[in-house]
Amino acid sequence: MILSLAPMEGITGHVFRAAHAECFGALDRYYSPFIRPPRVGSGFGKRDLRELCPGENPDPRLVPQLLTRDADEFVWAARLLAKMGFGEVNLNLGCPSRTVTSRGKGAGFLGDPDGLDAFLGKVTEESPIPVSVKTRLGIASVDEYERILDIYCRYPLAELIVHPRLLEDGYGGTPRWQAFGETLARAPFPVTYNGDMFSLDDINALERAFPDASRVMLGRGILANPALGRMARGGHAVTIDELEGFHDLLFEGYEDEMGGNAVLRMKEWWSYVQYAFEDPVSVWRTIRKVRKVEQYVTAAAAVFERGRLADEASYRRRGSLA
Ligand SMILES: Cc1cc2nc3c(=O)[nH]c(=O)nc-3n(C[C@H](O)[C@H](O)[C@H](O)COP(=O)(O)O)c2cc1C
Repeated sequence: MILSLAPMEGITGHVFRAAHAECFGALDRYYSPFIRPPRVGSGFGKRDLRELCPGENPDPRLVPQLLTRDADEFVWAARLLAKMGFGEVNLNLGCPSRTVTSRGKGAGFLGDPDGLDAFLGKVTEESPIPVSVKTRLGIASVDEYERILDIYCRYPLAELIVHPRLLEDGYGGTPRWQAFGETLARAPFPVTYNGDMFSLDDINALERAFPDASRVMLGRGILANPALGRMARGGHAVTIDELEGFHDLLFEGYEDEMGGNAVLRMKEWWSYVQYAFEDPVSVWRTIRKVRKVEQYVTAAAAVFERGRLADEASYRRRGSLA
C-alpha cells in the first residue's frame, strides 16, 4: 500500500511534514498545500519557495500542488518546478472553499468540463514534468462524474487522487465509494483513494471492498492519529511521549518560521489531535482560550502530564464535541 499525506492548507506545510517524518517515519508521498502559480515571467514568492524547498534540495517525495484554471500559468509554474528538481506537479480540483470556487478554481473548475478538457490537453502536452490531479466528483450531482472521468481518461495523468465527494457535500455525508470503484476499473493510470480514512478499520474496509486499491492518501485521520500510517504498516500506536516530542518539534518549527507567537497555529493542530486523547473535550477546553505563549506552554504541559490517550486515536467530525 502506497501511503501519502493529504495537502492541508495551514497545517501540512514543510514544518509539519519534517516533524511528522522524524517522529513517526516518512510516508511514501507528500503533497504541498495548494500554491497559486506566479504570473508568467515571474518567479515563486519567498514564502512558496520556503514551503517547497526549505533545504538545499527538494524532498523527492514531495509533489507540489497548484491551484489555477489558467493553463499558461500552470505550464510556467511546472517549468519552474522542474528546474527546482521536482518530478511531478499536482492540480487541485477539490478545494470547496467559496472564495476559490467562485472564481472557477479548485472543485469549481469541475463545473466547466469543456474548459477543463482544454486545460488538461494543454498542460499534459506542455508541462515538462508529469501532471497528476486531485479531484472531487463534481459540483452537485454524481451524474456529472462520468463526463469528468471520461476527460481524465483521455490524458496521460501521472496519478488521479479521488476524494469521492461533490463540491456541495463539503466534508459532510459519506464518501461515495462506488465512484472510486468505477475510477479504479476504468482509469489507465494509478488511482489513489482519499476521504475519511480515520482508523485501521477504515483502511482495512477499503482494502476489502477494493482489493485492487493500492494507494491511500491520509488527511484528518493522520492529524488526529499521527501514528496511523505506521499502524497501517503493522507498527505500534502513538505514545504520550511521542506525541509530546512531536508537539515540541512542531511548536519550535512554527515559532522559527513565523518569528514569534505560533499559538494560533498550534491551536489548529490541537483541534484535530484532541481526538488522540480519551477526553477530547477537556483537552480542547484547556487549549482553546489560550492566547499568549507562556499560557500556551503551561496549558500544553498540563495536557501531556494529565491527559490519557484514547484506546484508539481517531478523528471525529467537529460538532460532535464542544
Ligand atoms: C484544513 C484543511 C486544508 C486543506 N487544504 C487542502 C489543499 O491545500 N489542497 C487540497 O487538495 N486539499 C486540501 N484539503 C482537503 C484534504 O486534502 C482532503 O482531501 C480532505 O481532508 C479529505 O481527506 P480526509 O478525510 O482524509 O481528511 C484540505 C482539508 C482540510 C481539512
